[in-house]
Amino acid sequence: MSLPCFVANWKMNKTVAETLSYLTLCQQWLSKLPRLSCEIILAPPYTALFSAGNKIKELSLPIGLAAQNLYFEAEGPYTGEVSGRMLCEAGCQYVIIGHSERRNHFNENDSTITHKVQAALGANLTPILCVGENAKERLEGKTLQVIQRQVKEGLSRMDGGASHCMIAYEPIWAIGTGKTPTPFEVEQVHQKIARTLIEIGFKQRAPVIDILYGGSVSVENVAAFMKKPHVDGMLVGGASLSAETFMNIVQVGIGA
Ligand code: PGA
Repeated sequence: MSLPCFVANWKMNKTVAETLSYLTLCQQWLSKLPRLSCEIILAPPYTALFSAGNKIKELSLPIGLAAQNLYFEAEGPYTGEVSGRMLCEAGCQYVIIGHSERRNHFNENDSTITHKVQAALGANLTPILCVGENAKERLEGKTLQVIQRQVKEGLSRMDGGASHCMIAYEPIWAIGTGKTPTPFEVEQVHQKIARTLIEIGFKQRAPVIDILYGGSVSVENVAAFMKKPHVDGMLVGGASLSAETFMNIVQVGIGA
């Protein structure tokens, strides 16, 4: 079993200077802990990745680095895009793929996303695949159906070579709204994801797949989500912008 995992998705926030101050605060917090029984991953914007990667190395921080997106081609005439190889060079080990903001504002669909998962694995990056239903689908009782489709499609080009992958269940209506499903509902969706993984043959062979929850995660609600057996960690957006709040979420989440 892998350690509980907490991912901070900063979205389009923080300059290089702000990223470096955040890491200094993380270092101070980490130095007060006897040992870290979880995985912490930060996802700054592209422009801050390289400096963040260097700072993490320089301070030997037990923190992973994720990009918030990638393009599936390795190089070429794709103005404005960044490839997996470039992200690795900038110090990333992870990449968020198929976040609902990418699906909604940038027209990403299941087909683009499956190519991105494949490209991430090809570049030795661990994909953090985001899936989630919208408010209408939830009202119509289609949540499990939508999630199953997104998981199957997203992982359809994932071959046997990968060792690790993460799936983040993020109901779209819960992102940045302060609303969340109940821990019971989250557990039901995570169980469905686990069953879908078995159906498509993943549990019998590598990789290890962690299932995270995201959408208005806070210091107040994290413990209840983390208590559920199929919840392996959290993907935190708004509340991760303050280092102090994010560290509190991690601390409460691991019951430290
Ligand atoms: P939120 O965002 O925590 O601000 O709801 C989560 C996300 O979009 O990953």
